Amino acid sequence: MLAAMSLERKVAQIIMPDIGSITAKDVKRYRFGTILNGGNSGPYGDDKAPAADWLKLADEYWVASTAPLPKGEPVIPAVWATDAVHGHANVIGATVFPHNIALGATGDADLIRRIGAATAVEIEVTGIDWTFAPTIAVARDDRWGRTYESYSEDPALVSRLGAAMVEGLQGRPGDPGFLGKGKVAATAKHFFGDGGTDQGVDQGDVDGDLDALMAIHAAPYPAAINAGVASVMASFNSINGVKMHGNAPLLTGELRGKLGFGGLVVGDWNGHGQVDGCTNKDCPQALMAGLDVYMVPEDWKALHRSLVKQVKNGTIPMSRLDEAVLRVLRLKQALGIFDGEVKPSARSLGGRWELLGSPEHRAIAREAVAKSQVILKNSGVLPLKAGARIEVAGLAADNIPQQAGGWSVTWQGGGELTAADFPGATSIWQGIAAAAKASGSEAVLAPEGGSAGSKPDVAIVVFGEEPYAEFVGDRKDLAFRDEEGLTLLKSYRARGIPTVAVFLSGRPLWMNREINAADAFVAAWLPGSEGAGVADVLFGARPATGRLSFSWPAHCEGTPVNGPEGALFAVGYGLDLGAAGGPGTLDETCNALTADHGAAWFASGRLGNTVQAVADNAVLPDLRGVGNGITATGIDRKAQEDARRIAFAPGAKLALTGPESSAGWRITYQVTERPKAAVTVSADGTAFDITQRLAVAAGKGWREMVLTSDCLGEVGDKLAFASKGKFTIEISEIARDERAAEAECSF
Ligand code: BGC
Ligand code: BGC
Repeated sequence: MLAAMSLERKVAQIIMPDIGSITAKDVKRYRFGTILNGGNSGPYGDDKAPAADWLKLADEYWVASTAPLPKGEPVIPAVWATDAVHGHANVIGATVFPHNIALGATGDADLIRRIGAATAVEIEVTGIDWTFAPTIAVARDDRWGRTYESYSEDPALVSRLGAAMVEGLQGRPGDPGFLGKGKVAATAKHFFGDGGTDQGVDQGDVDGDLDALMAIHAAPYPAAINAGVASVMASFNSINGVKMHGNAPLLTGELRGKLGFGGLVVGDWNGHGQVDGCTNKDCPQALMAGLDVYMVPEDWKALHRSLVKQVKNGTIPMSRLDEAVLRVLRLKQALGIFDGEVKPSARSLGGRWELLGSPEHRAIAREAVAKSQVILKNSGVLPLKAGARIEVAGLAADNIPQQAGGWSVTWQGGGELTAADFPGATSIWQGIAAAAKASGSEAVLAPEGGSAGSKPDVAIVVFGEEPYAEFVGDRKDLAFRDEEGLTLLKSYRARGIPTVAVFLSGRPLWMNREINAADAFVAAWLPGSEGAGVADVLFGARPATGRLSFSWPAHCEGTPVNGPEGALFAVGYGLDLGAAGGPGTLDETCNALTADHGAAWFASGRLGNTVQAVADNAVLPDLRGVGNGITATGIDRKAQEDARRIAFAPGAKLALTGPESSAGWRITYQVTERPKAAVTVSADGTAFDITQRLAVAAGKGWREMVLTSDCLGEVGDKLAFASKGKFTIEISEIARDERAAEAECSF
């Protein structure tokens, strides 16, 4: 096949565009080797497309990529990859399994193998061939926003569970069903060091002695490779300053050489564009370093052009291109694509909708939820007594998007999603209600804690982190600032009602205050669609076998804890249901709660910890979302979604509040079009007209705006922009600038 391919078609094999930026016509014309859907892309531009649309689009790609070619060129179907990282969770109606951190707490490789197998079936029902899972990161700094994608801080446990997931998804090499019917290609990601970045900064740098780093962060790869993993994804991070996508000694030397990986190395989302000297559109360095497939969601056309040119002019030897193309072809061969395969809907599992979110798969998910509950404290309230009157409080109790976490229907999860986006799912409250009924107990839902007059026998308070994914979840410390749960626990205690705290989170956080305030405390992680698994443990229908796979911190500062030192609970901790236990009264001091986190109000794609962005009364978490005339979307400046495009409808106002600034702000921004009507900025309420200044800045690229009392009057903890007409501004950073006190405003 390779010998009969044109240069253009070879290059197309190593280009992976996103479904959001191609049409079936592009597929037919270019013949991409592979295609992905990113976390925010659904078929036909619809994140919440019905499941049948996924299969329909898969068919369209199949038909387009198998149209006959002239001059005897071989016809090579495209294959489609997706992030089924906790079930096929991009798709409405799929079983959403707990995130990896929860699976780590089960320690149950057989369970994880069954989860992989169920996930593979659901993927195949929708016509997709390949998943970007499992993540086998060894997260060592829980401030990292992807900690929940990691099974454990212990490389040995990650190895064991990661390999089990690979076997579940692909089958076992040598077995007749390997990569066959009901099996998909898996991806071990992200090679390597993703869990080891300095201060847990996503996509950051990992520093240290190479052997020592490999011993932790590359340790799970041999087991995954042994299990036959079809692909490995290169990591966004750098190691000792060199980005992995351009790191030949590691991507080729270590992964191919020392670890003997013979499969396909796929890049991450424009990861090549972060290599020194590269852009998304132009990066021979990545191929030369050992990448086989470029994940280039949008700029595929320009990248295709530059790669063709670079092979022609000898920058890239044909032999390296051929090697990469062969890896793509071998992956397809392994999947049986060349053995008379038919279009996705005509395959034996294609369109078998009864298998998507089937009762059997949901039962496995529920089992996983139950096995992942870790009881950190129990003064004897658990298991709940039959006949008890139970009040269930907390906004997370009946909140399926929150219990699902990130990478659920949308990339970030949560936000505007509702239970309706997870048909067939069960909330934690619904699980408790059903279990109460079955045991002759009585349960009521009182999200805000019920009335002072209510006297239940016990209250269950469900609370925790709001969903996030990737760098959006990065934190500067492990303090948990949302006091909803704490307040509820304390108010029940004041009323003499015993409590069970059920904490939803993507990582261990400093919980000393909540643990003190509760009579029992359960780490429930991010359970996914089958919330009933929580009740299974609370009511004693299943034993409490979950054990921590991460050290639980004693302090809130966030310095990494990986072992007994600094831990409140060590790896392996977890109480049996019958056992009363837990710590005595814990120290509640946390300097980070009152400390001020540097100058940034908005940086690296997120708001400072205490900063809020509001359009009228609509809160825009992390300066993203839609509210009262403001539409704020993530855009890429230096890294993915590290900036925002903020569109104002006529009359809209965006207000920010945050830590007091004594002097003013420095804002990195760009405007592409002159404002059509007045735009003003204000700090103390007095509007300062900046229309003219923005008109001058328009079209000049990224610039800095300095706002001080010079033009704003008094500055403090508020800053607002308002526009009389339609207007769009892009912002990548808003920082308090204490040095600017005397400075004039500039734009
Ligand atoms: C993530 C990967 C993911 C890819 C495709 C990247 O941003 O780092 O884990 O597979 O996007 O969605
Ligand atoms: C995610 C994609 C998402 C994109 C948005 C990536 O990190 O993996 O799935 O759509 O960022 O920029």
